[in-house]
Amino acid sequence: MNLQLFSKAPNATYRRESERSGHKEITDRLQTIIQDSRKRIVILFGGCSSEYSVSLQSAYAVICHLDQKEYLPVLIGITKTGDWYLYLGETDRISEDTWCGLKTNIPVSVCPNRHESCLMAYTEDGEFMKKIPVDAVFPVLHGRNGEDGTVQGMFELAGIPVIGCGVLASSLCMDKDRAHKLVSEAGIRVPKSFVIADDHNENYGIQNALYQAESIGYPLFVKPVKAGSSYGVTKVCKRTELADAIRLAFQYDDTVIVEEAITGFEVGCAVMGNEELTVGEVDEIELQSEFFDFTEKYTLKTSAIHVPARIDEDTAEQIRQTARRIYQTLGCKVFSRVDMFLTENGEIVFNEVNTIPGFTSHSRFPNMMKAVGISFEQILNTVIRLGLETGGREDKMGMVG
Ligand SMILES: Nc1ncnc2c1ncn2[C@@H]1O[C@H](COP(=O)(O)OP(=O)(O)O)[C@@H](O)[C@H]1O
Ligand SMILES: [Mg+2]
Repeated sequence: MNLQLFSKAPNATYRRESERSGHKEITDRLQTIIQDSRKRIVILFGGCSSEYSVSLQSAYAVICHLDQKEYLPVLIGITKTGDWYLYLGETDRISEDTWCGLKTNIPVSVCPNRHESCLMAYTEDGEFMKKIPVDAVFPVLHGRNGEDGTVQGMFELAGIPVIGCGVLASSLCMDKDRAHKLVSEAGIRVPKSFVIADDHNENYGIQNALYQAESIGYPLFVKPVKAGSSYGVTKVCKRTELADAIRLAFQYDDTVIVEEAITGFEVGCAVMGNEELTVGEVDEIELQSEFFDFTEKYTLKTSAIHVPARIDEDTAEQIRQTARRIYQTLGCKVFSRVDMFLTENGEIVFNEVNTIPGFTSHSRFPNMMKAVGISFEQILNTVIRLGLETGGREDKMGMVG
């Protein structure tokens, strides 16, 4: 029971006054945002995804490197359970993950009316407070409910340009199986694979998987079709390990992909652009462990990332060309990181596209661009310009229809 509700009159009066002054302070701050002459860029961070904490680090770096002479960051934090708040607190609290639960966090939603392009701010009790017009949204979210086209769809519907891939490319790239099928159609090698759907039976069609795995051969990789940061990924070296790996992958998605293990090493390529593409330096992951798992990705305890990759220029150029083709085949816009394998005999095999790759200052995407002379600040200016461009064009197409 909240005793404050029953406090004596003077206290109650005091509380109401302090609430009123708190409310006034918040509406004043909203008014400052509304009157700001800079372009208002919504930065989404957190998210209802297993990669929530990775997003906090990426968003922190994006906010710190944003050109604040040109752009006003309008921060929206999404909790792990999917609640949206306009965040007015200190930036450090985002990287420390102490942003949640502050009194100044304002419940917020996106207005679907295209001509308004705005956010709607509410009081804690759900009373409408203010509309905040915005110019674009930068979802700095990783994984499900952020990188998979859902958030992109909501903003596209609302007529707010998205800094990043649109709905279709985002969902395709999130789906490792369908992305492979399209890229293979474009003549690029992909790992041999099959998928298993959750049949709501404890055994998940394991007998069938064991049978199909024979034609791929061991070792193989078992992965959730739609996840990221290596969550739920297992390298399976023998038949007896397959069932557990499948059960683990099903904890992250309702469809699981079983893939041939590609020998060689992983290479990546950062791509930016809509029609004309800018491609970063190719990077290489040097692994000591079986694969690039969550811990290795974020601590590099035993692995190393080389930019540029330790390969000859011809091979690097082939990888860049392949990355461009994959980006275009999947309909990517604005920016993405294309991940591939380079086999021992020099063949390039597609792995996946990350439409919102890690964006901390030591992440792969910014480092690949840095290696061709493009700074973090320049990346942000470019992607914002490209995103604003895309939003404008899609608006016009909508009008014709
Ligand atoms: N077919 C494969 N052959 C070899 N290694 C693989 C294969 N699939 C995944 N891996 C390893 O597992 C890691 C995570 O798999 P990936 O498909 O990139 O999923 P995520 O979206 O979680 O990053 C890769 O970085 C790589 O080290
Ligand atoms: Mg990956």
